[in-house]
Amino acid sequence: TGLTTLDYGFVNTAAVKSRITYIDGDQGILRYRGYPIEQVAKSLTYLETAWLLIYGELPSASELEAFDERIRRHTLLHEDLKRFFDALPYDAHPMSVLSSGVSALSTYYQDSTDPHKPEDLEISTIRLLAKLPVMAAYAHKKSIGQAFLYPDNSLSFVDNFLRLNFGTLAEPYEVNPVLSKALERLLILHEDHEQNASTSTVRLVGSTEANMYASISAGINALFGPLHGGANEAVLTMLAQIRDSGEGVEKFVEKVKNKQSGIRLMGFGHRVYKNYDPRAKLVKESADEVLAALGVQDDLLDIAKELEGIALADDYFKERRLYPNVDFYTGVIYKAMGFPTRMFTVLFAIGRLPGWIAHYREMFDDPQTKIGRPQQLYVGSPQRDLPAR
Ligand code: CMC
Repeated sequence: TGLTTLDYGFVNTAAVKSRITYIDGDQGILRYRGYPIEQVAKSLTYLETAWLLIYGELPSASELEAFDERIRRHTLLHEDLKRFFDALPYDAHPMSVLSSGVSALSTYYQDSTDPHKPEDLEISTIRLLAKLPVMAAYAHKKSIGQAFLYPDNSLSFVDNFLRLNFGTLAEPYEVNPVLSKALERLLILHEDHEQNASTSTVRLVGSTEANMYASISAGINALFGPLHGGANEAVLTMLAQIRDSGEGVEKFVEKVKNKQSGIRLMGFGHRVYKNYDPRAKLVKESADEVLAALGVQDDLLDIAKELEGIALADDYFKERRLYPNVDFYTGVIYKAMGFPTRMFTVLFAIGRLPGWIAHYREMFDDPQTKIGRPQQLYVGSPQRDLPAR
């Protein structure tokens, strides 16, 4: 129609009203339900933040306890679903394994797929929060050929996850509190980021009234791409390439600036932030702290810092207002924690899960929600006739 406007990448089009997350990209401000990210990341736990995002207010002590308890009771995967991981190749990317696993959840929980029933939304929320970390750890174990552990529900959410990843059947696993605290903080920083590509995917799929598992599995696939969540993996690959090529950081930056090279500085730039990503600031602070506390010395962190310094001083990056984003320093920390590079985006997915759930639920609370159905401008052939046969 004459009213249709062309907006590649939805740069200017709002498709929803939302109360969950506020971003001011020019000033580098991020708030969850009104609370500044700096305060949230310092004071809350992953599950408290999840509650805040999903239900809109901070939980009372008893609400949080009941939520935590319910999630702990749902961590087990059906034994058949556990075997499902064995059917996939050991060298499969853990993000593909994770999205397949989440998709498979709706084959097990056919009883709770109606987005208009509060009790279905509630149980799907609990199951996803409980089972996604377990599936993520199994994707990891599968890739390194180790046995899957059963969850230990006496442990906190993050400690349970660490044990499932790094524990073995051979010996007891002691959670390192430094690692646990740092991971919790990183997960919180990823919990929501308003209408990013994966959240918009969850909303679009959900707008057809597809169930929460199906919608979130689609979100995981959207997150997989290197321009979105996959960037944390791509940053580490890039840093290692710079180190191994021995060409030096300046030369690499020159290649990025020569756009014909097709090389982007991964972990830099953001659709919304035209200033330092507030999450990246917090992650950068953690990087030194965590590496020191874990006794890890990594030359990739030095390369990252040098790269940041050179880019921030360069006109190409200044003119385009390109700053480090959340993915720039996370990989160095995840590596120091012992996660293989291919698990980095999986960690992003666990972080983002509460945001996806909150948006899915907010959509069904909003009476104005309609099926998502973008318009197009047709630029193909006018009508023509098939050749006569
Ligand atoms: N390296 C080099 N040049 C870049 C980069 C980069 N990382 N990002 C943007 N540019 C240039 C781009 O070439 C364009 O230049 P010109 O105006 O001369 O054509 C200009 O900056 C604007 O870029 P754009 O592609 O129009 O910006 P966008 O808003 O569509 O893309 C982005 C945002 C995040 C996809 C992009 O900055 C990018 O590809 N970054 C690298 C991947 C990355 O780190 N992604 C993680 C994003 S944060 C975590 C998340 O939420 O997923």
